[in-house]
Amino acid sequence: MVRRYLVAGNWKMHKGVSETTAFLEQLLAAKRPRNVDVVVCPPYISLPAAAMLLTRSGIGLGAQNVHWESSGAFTGEISAPMLRDLEVGWVIVGHSERRALFGETDETAAKRARRAQDEELTVIFCLGETLEEREAGATMDVLRRQAGVLGDLDPAKLVVAYEPIWAIGTGRTATPAQAQEAHAFLRAELAGQLGQEAANTVRILYGGSVKPANAAELFSQPDVDGGLIGGASLDVPSFSAIIRAAAHLAAGESS
Ligand code: 13P
Repeated sequence: MVRRYLVAGNWKMHKGVSETTAFLEQLLAAKRPRNVDVVVCPPYISLPAAAMLLTRSGIGLGAQNVHWESSGAFTGEISAPMLRDLEVGWVIVGHSERRALFGETDETAAKRARRAQDEELTVIFCLGETLEEREAGATMDVLRRQAGVLGDLDPAKLVVAYEPIWAIGTGRTATPAQAQEAHAFLRAELAGQLGQEAANTVRILYGGSVKPANAAELFSQPDVDGGLIGGASLDVPSFSAIIRAAAHLAAGESS
């Protein structure tokens, strides 16, 4: 089973409308490989401008969070139907920054993911251990707990992103072997919950200080199906170089 590489940019709290427009115009003007799926996830406020620019471009548009209700008294929240209305097709759920800074739990992340899938959004579900957990030898226990909710989701609209917290924004990347070990473990967990066939179709992205210089080595691991890119997705040359690294590997695999 061949999984297509996916390179997704999580812009976090960067790029308002004018910077989003400038970035996407530059990205769209550049030559892009067709054998890799590409998604950008700007802040909510920039989604309408991005949606207009990306129509029929082949580049996917994602949000960085979503509420589990359709509407109601939830000040500051955005719902899945609202995202669909903008033709947003993807959403990041359970990012470690939301877990650490905004009270996200396994349960709330699962509720968001289910609601988003009900609305036909593809969920990029993030999980990963802290440095203390890794050093205590608890990585796989943490991943098993966090992945415990994935069995309730539709594998056809699911991407998992393994993002070790100690590698996010630190310049310290997991080694390819560490990434592969975690990804293989997560795929086995998915197989236990959803069956091996479905687990083989779910893309598992690596996130945490992916750069043009380390992307190819990480993506060449058998269970690493692309990346969720933070800092290096904010600049067109570096984001494009990461996309090309995936395209190069994909071309090699298909030849
Ligand atoms: P960096 O690529 O900046 O380390 O961020 C990773 C991340 O959190 C993507 O969601």
